[in-house]
Amino acid sequence: MPSLRDAARGRILFGGDYNPEQWPEEVWEDDVRLMKEAGVNSVTLGVFSWAKIEPRPGAREFGWLDRLMDLMHAHGIGVVLATPTTSPPPWMGARHPETLPRAEDGSIVWYGSRQQFCASSPVYRRYAAALTEDLAARYAEHPALTVWHINNEYCTHCWCDETAVHFRRWLCARYGTLDALNEAWGTAFWSQHYDSWSEILPPRKAQYMKNPTQVLDFKRFTSDALMECFTAERDIVARHTPHIPVTTNFMPLWSGQDAWAWAAEEDIVSVDIYPDPRDPWGGQYNAMLADMTRSQAAGPWMLMEQAAGAVNWRGVNHPKPEGLNRLWSLQSVARGADAVCYFQWRQSRQGSEKFHSGMLGHAGEHGRAFRETRRLGAELAAIGPAVAGTAVAADVAVLHDWDAWWAGAQEGSPSTLLDYTEVVRRWHRALWENGTATEFARPDAGLSRFKAVVVPHLYLLGDAAIDNLVAYVRGGGRLVCGFFTGIADVDDRIRPGGMDVRLRELFGIRTLHEWWPLEADTAVQCDGFRGTVWSEELEAAEDAEVVAAYREGELAGLPAVLRRGGATYVSTLPEPPALRALVGDVVRAAGVRPVLSGLPESVEAVRRGELLFLLHHGREMVTVTVPGAYEDLLTGRVVTDRVALGRYGVAVLRSTAP
Ligand code: GLA
Repeated sequence: MPSLRDAARGRILFGGDYNPEQWPEEVWEDDVRLMKEAGVNSVTLGVFSWAKIEPRPGAREFGWLDRLMDLMHAHGIGVVLATPTTSPPPWMGARHPETLPRAEDGSIVWYGSRQQFCASSPVYRRYAAALTEDLAARYAEHPALTVWHINNEYCTHCWCDETAVHFRRWLCARYGTLDALNEAWGTAFWSQHYDSWSEILPPRKAQYMKNPTQVLDFKRFTSDALMECFTAERDIVARHTPHIPVTTNFMPLWSGQDAWAWAAEEDIVSVDIYPDPRDPWGGQYNAMLADMTRSQAAGPWMLMEQAAGAVNWRGVNHPKPEGLNRLWSLQSVARGADAVCYFQWRQSRQGSEKFHSGMLGHAGEHGRAFRETRRLGAELAAIGPAVAGTAVAADVAVLHDWDAWWAGAQEGSPSTLLDYTEVVRRWHRALWENGTATEFARPDAGLSRFKAVVVPHLYLLGDAAIDNLVAYVRGGGRLVCGFFTGIADVDDRIRPGGMDVRLRELFGIRTLHEWWPLEADTAVQCDGFRGTVWSEELEAAEDAEVVAAYREGELAGLPAVLRRGGATYVSTLPEPPALRALVGDVVRAAGVRPVLSGLPESVEAVRRGELLFLLHHGREMVTVTVPGAYEDLLTGRVVTDRVALGRYGVAVLRSTAP
């Protein structure tokens, strides 16, 4: 199977989305000159080029792309070639309105922006396949081609009639009979019983709360329907070029796509990461998404897009201060990226993204953005041979699952303030602050290689996943589990007792009486810390250890944190310092050591292969103690026992010991 290794060939890929169709051809020469100057060795071409290649149905205008492919090859720049199927031209919507998505209320999502296609539309699929076929045939032998990039950030949702037909087919395959569907969806409730398959619809705009299992199945279906579009195009390009790896770029930790399932269908796992430069925890967020993507890839991954400076889709869009782009890029490399790429190479002058930064900004080659691009390109070239293809080891897994996320995010739940991604982020942050190397895993994955497992919050857990957790602890593993976990089965049916009995036994919970979600910006005092977001009225089993109890309110005196053997249950979300301490205790007890001890608070240490990355997330000068002598691959200098790091400073150290 082809992989990122084939494309990277011992280097870090560096470059970005290149949209030369927005520019006159004389600019292309200038682009290439500056790309060479910046050490760009990879560009992504064609993402939004459908209308340019096929300006009218069936037309093929490949001449401009031929010239670009040749130009890139002549300068030794590899091409990640996109199938342009993310953004159909206006003619498709005008001639085939049934390809346009319908929103939940039946309104049409029109062309004039991008991504206006219904994944279930046979017409869309036919045109996409025909274009993919011709594109693949034309460039199969082209020496510039390094990676296929299918579509772009698959994310559309559609509630149209075509989707309804497709959804029924999907449901029929899942349930077999209508009786089984009625049972799974609990349609005895509110007179929702279905008498015929043809009555079933995508969960459209309704009078009141929708059937939660129907909504859950629709999310599962939508992820699968989009994946069918991906695999159809993937199979076409793979037939032409079995040696070229195929990817599609994920939005990370995005609810529309089960990335575990998708990653298994890709040769390269790639992702677009856009931390907010104003976020004081942006570095941790970047680390978390890197860990998640590396876990999906089970090895090196591709940072397909990030921003050199500002994005243009937040309310207030700050540029990255000098050095932050470099810091987060090298952090991604430390955590397994073998490609550091951007949206986009040259900042657009027109269109909706003209205020979105580029590697080459409006200020041009003398601007700060390009200066930083050039520096990073040189540094990635310097460290590439030592880092590319190497592994990042981790002893701790965080369990994350789309099914649980989807099911938990339903109407009519105990609290609208429970934000799945925020809870995952807080637990990962606790590990990050402890300097613990971390991976992500799905709840039914093999866990025996991990010394500790963290479950932030998994509302829905299937039987196999529950048995997996129980077996992990029985086998000597340490498990720490957050609130409101193991509540529902795969059909979103509440487990008897309100929480699965195997898990209650595991943690030493005799009875789960009630959930007590907390109001916004309030906290409940517990022994030694304050809990936020959630609390639970629990009764401990006799042999359970109450690690901490609630101190105030209705739950005063009842257990907040419970432990039985290697399994710890945390029924609230402790404030960050307490969660850090709690997680630190669990991982230490499991024998997990931080990557490096005694670090200044603002410094992160990551080991990748034989290299030690030191990443300074602060602005004041700090000194890090690292016993021994090392070469800093970024500077070529030898450092002994101590490394000084300035604002957003990074060192990439290789021991000089033989
Ligand atoms: C996404 C898309 C790009 C671009 C960027 C802007 O990642 O894939 O085409 O719109 O967002 O941040």
